[in-house]
Amino acid sequence: MKIAAVSDIHVVPGGADEPLLMAIKDRVEDIAPDVFVIAGDLSHDLSILEEALATLAVDDAVRLFVPGNHDIWFESEKQIGSLEKYARLIGDACKNTGFHYLPDEPYIDGEGAFVGSIGWSDYSFARPELGISEEQYRRKEYRGAVWFDVFNVDWSFTDREATELFNGKLEYDLKTLPERVRWVVYVSHHLPFRELTVYKNRLPWDFFSAFMGATSTGEILRRDGRVVLSISGHSHIRNLIRIDGITAMTVPLGYGRPADGDFESLARDAVAQVEIDDGEVKVVDFVSGDICEGMPYAMARR
Ligand SMILES: [Fe+2]
Ligand SMILES: [Fe+2]
Repeated sequence: MKIAAVSDIHVVPGGADEPLLMAIKDRVEDIAPDVFVIAGDLSHDLSILEEALATLAVDDAVRLFVPGNHDIWFESEKQIGSLEKYARLIGDACKNTGFHYLPDEPYIDGEGAFVGSIGWSDYSFARPELGISEEQYRRKEYRGAVWFDVFNVDWSFTDREATELFNGKLEYDLKTLPERVRWVVYVSHHLPFRELTVYKNRLPWDFFSAFMGATSTGEILRRDGRVVLSISGHSHIRNLIRIDGITAMTVPLGYGRPADGDFESLARDAVAQVEIDDGEVKVVDFVSGDICEGMPYAMARR
């Protein structure tokens, strides 16, 4: 099975990213995967998200999507909340564009299965040596530096409750897979392994790293024994690790856009290619690091 994967495209409103989306689509079609995975952070605007999915709807591949934290940011103008987006509206956008919405149900193909969700963070990636209190992580603010989910996610869960909710769903999905399933790919936006996070020994970067993921999620993957591959986004620094027999990667594109308009090169770096043969994972094409380094930022944030 051939897999192509990307995340964190953070589509710029107003159509300026159309050439980038087309370049990503072309790149994926060149790879000709059996499964195309998008691991979240397309847009905080549901209409832009659906348009992007429509543009990225490559032919002849099963298309899988999990949302990222930006995708569930509430939209006060449209009066839609984070939970409504996660539980229903993003799934509808996927249905409209031929994407399988993994939070609703796993995708199963013979002896293989893909399970996944947005995942969440419970501050277990925090660095205790920084001496930052739990309260500061809860408020998502450290000396004026703010993690923007605090203003933009309006569901009633605490971060710990959200993490437990998605962990519970992951355990349920794994438990209820058909018996014939021998290998599993986990897809999420947030990271299941602390080892995927890149710390920089500076603040507020290392403060924000606490919001990258949850070690408890990785424990579930480790315990299961069938999980061979984990694909995530969220961190905008691409990383590839092996942990207890699991190949784990982050596949973000990021906020930068090439000043010279070379979208093909950016798309080539952004789309990772992996093959699974009889449960064995082979990473065919993967670029590490920040692939937007040195590029001007696109204005994707609100
Ligand atoms: Fe992102
Ligand atoms: Fe994210």
